[in-house]
Amino acid sequence: MRPNYTTRPFFHTPQCNPGGRAESIRVREKPAEAIRLEEFMYVVIGATGNTGRVVAEKLLAKGEKVRAVGRDAKRLELLKQKGAEAFLADATDAGALTKAFSGAKAVYAMIPPNISAPNVRDYQERVNDALAAAIEKSGVQYAVVLSSIGADKPDKTGPVVGLHNLENKIGAVGGVNALYLRAGYFMENTLPQVGVIQSFGNVAGPLRPDLPLAMIATRDIGAAAAEALLKADFQGKRTRELQGARDVTYAEVAKTIGAAIGKPGLAYVQLPAAQLKPALTKMGMSSSMADLLLEMSESLNSGYMKPLEPRSPQNTTPTTLETFVAEYFVPAFRGKAARA
Ligand SMILES: NC(=O)c1ccc[n+]([C@@H]2O[C@H](COP(=O)([O-])OP(=O)(O)OC[C@H]3O[C@@H](n4cnc5c(N)ncnc54)[C@H](OP(=O)(O)O)[C@@H]3O)[C@@H](O)[C@H]2O)c1
Repeated sequence: MRPNYTTRPFFHTPQCNPGGRAESIRVREKPAEAIRLEEFMYVVIGATGNTGRVVAEKLLAKGEKVRAVGRDAKRLELLKQKGAEAFLADATDAGALTKAFSGAKAVYAMIPPNISAPNVRDYQERVNDALAAAIEKSGVQYAVVLSSIGADKPDKTGPVVGLHNLENKIGAVGGVNALYLRAGYFMENTLPQVGVIQSFGNVAGPLRPDLPLAMIATRDIGAAAAEALLKADFQGKRTRELQGARDVTYAEVAKTIGAAIGKPGLAYVQLPAAQLKPALTKMGMSSSMADLLLEMSESLNSGYMKPLEPRSPQNTTPTTLETFVAEYFVPAFRGKAARA
């Protein structure tokens, strides 16, 4: 049973919450200290990662109370120094997540990637079940959930099937208002190309060279998630796409990287799945993860997996490919070259 109360301050006015009288009374019955602790607390899953770190830092910068969830105290230390409460929990542990979510106004929920899991889909469902149970048991009112373009499809989208199921499992929890951020293809996915370029002299991957991709920098996802958490203006279950600054192809990625690293003729080569799988497992992916990634690539190449919303100011985010390459790719490339 979900606890039947909220501590959201703006729920205390009848015009915002027609059924809010009982809730207001319940809040007033709470000791002042409990109200202070509960009103302004946000929980961030994956807080040491690409998107979660940005979410946590943006909330902390606004003076909000943040419980940062991760598995490693040392990695959480930086956020702790910025004022976050470090909370150690594994995302598959429903009991630990329930404790983490208790007293929170809102959570940033995601499936932390586990690319070496022997069965990635099984791992994803264990996280999905734990997140849904914790949201249900803690009675948290708002969840901003990291999902993906393609999460509308129930199958054939590789790891994105896990996100489809995450949306559905949180969707089945009554009472929580959930915003599913269906993000595009991460620009960070291009970073392993540092090694590919240095070893083979070109950019390579399974995607068509001319496939337009809604490519997004993860910092923009974190910023959008933090903004949504702070506003908390979504009701029921909603989806919102985040499509990056513009659509880009891998041919354009190679051209942009080439220009930035002083290799103007840098080309993109599409490789067949059979040739890529051993390279992916060599990079640390389990066979299961490599298969899912290649399945997703097929779905992207065929157009089965694609954005549903027309591009608009609401789903367009600021960081361009050129900015990402200058600020993230080039330093990674130069750093690796210097270490070689
Ligand atoms: N790549 C794409 O193009 C794309 C597109 C759309 C959506 N997505 C989705 O985006 C998500 C990844 O987001 P991200 O890049 O922000 O994540 P990330 O940086 O890869 O990982 C987030 C954090 O999760 C923590 N973590 C790992 N395993 C954990 C576990 N079992 N329990 C608790 N914490 C754990 C890790 O921190 P510690 O090691 O400190 O615990 C890590 O820093 C995935 O769900 C993916 O499907 C990806």
